[in-house]
Amino acid sequence: MAQQQGMAALAAEKGVLFGSTLTRGQADESAEMRRLARQEMGAIVPGFEFKWPTLRPGPWEFDFSGAEAMLRLAEEQGQKTRGHALVWHGALPGWFGDGPADAMGMRTLLRHHIDTVARRYAGRIHSWDVVNEPVEPWDGRQDGLRDSPFLRSMGTDYIDLSFRWAAEADPQARLVLNEYGVEMATAEQEARRTALLRLVEGMLRRRVPLHAIGIQAHLAAARQHEFEAEVLRRFIRRIAALGLDCYITELDVTDRGLPPDIATRDAAVAHTYRVFLDAALAEPSVKAVILWGISDRYTWMNDSRFARREDGLPTRPHPFDADFRPKPAWDAIREAFRAASAR
Ligand code: XIL
Repeated sequence: MAQQQGMAALAAEKGVLFGSTLTRGQADESAEMRRLARQEMGAIVPGFEFKWPTLRPGPWEFDFSGAEAMLRLAEEQGQKTRGHALVWHGALPGWFGDGPADAMGMRTLLRHHIDTVARRYAGRIHSWDVVNEPVEPWDGRQDGLRDSPFLRSMGTDYIDLSFRWAAEADPQARLVLNEYGVEMATAEQEARRTALLRLVEGMLRRRVPLHAIGIQAHLAAARQHEFEAEVLRRFIRRIAALGLDCYITELDVTDRGLPPDIATRDAAVAHTYRVFLDAALAEPSVKAVILWGISDRYTWMNDSRFARREDGLPTRPHPFDADFRPKPAWDAIREAFRAASAR
């Protein structure tokens, strides 16, 4: 049988960068995973290796070994690397605690981190998620921004400054503001979209170097009815009208809430990928699609209390199963790229 074209190759034909997250542990442990990474990823997003807990074992220490290993792997295979993430409240080492309470202390710590990491890899990173998940209307602020340790110490300035420091340290990388929960047609997500657009408009007015918005897109097949293509497309067009690209940065589809039957689950998950990608790819400003996992063997979803199945069965959210065999989702994603127009 002739070798079938993989997802990354089909995406590349349409001018879309395609890839997935991968960790050093997965690549070291599994030859099958390394094969999938070679065949199916045009870009790799290290899952842990660029996050603070890995890079910053202590307040005065850096450990670059994981980041180096992942960059080397991608470069040997001619793949791009996305850096994830310079500033994220959700992955901080224990020693960080709530961080320095005073603005100057937090500013010094953040600047030192961004400067050291982004400068070290300048020219080798396709794009940096500079700030991850800065918006959270549920936190109850007027501006809809997240009440994170960074904001508590530095005020809302931490966002602009992080982007300015990243641009100084690596003028070539595309700088991305990455956000979750902005793709569905619910009131909650509409509030998050509104807050995000307001934030972005302000940043651009203040001439902050920002190039793309990352839409995480952690989807649930059982909530497919809450998706409306036009709502997502309108949001992407509003971002494009501001001069920014969109990247789909963490796409996966949990089967939480679906019956246990595997064929039923796999079909619903595949359908969800297809409908979502058809909508996103219809917008020419969508320049990258990154999955948050490629094989069910290694999925963060079984550990997430929001994504794991309530019946305790392992989730089947990715295009390859736990034995690295292609699933209906693999075909659905490839079909979406085949159907997309070139950008
Ligand atoms: C997840 C990783 O995949 C897990 O292995 C880890 O335990 C927690 O973080 N949004 C993000 C990602 O931006 O960094 C998260 O990744 C998933 C949610």
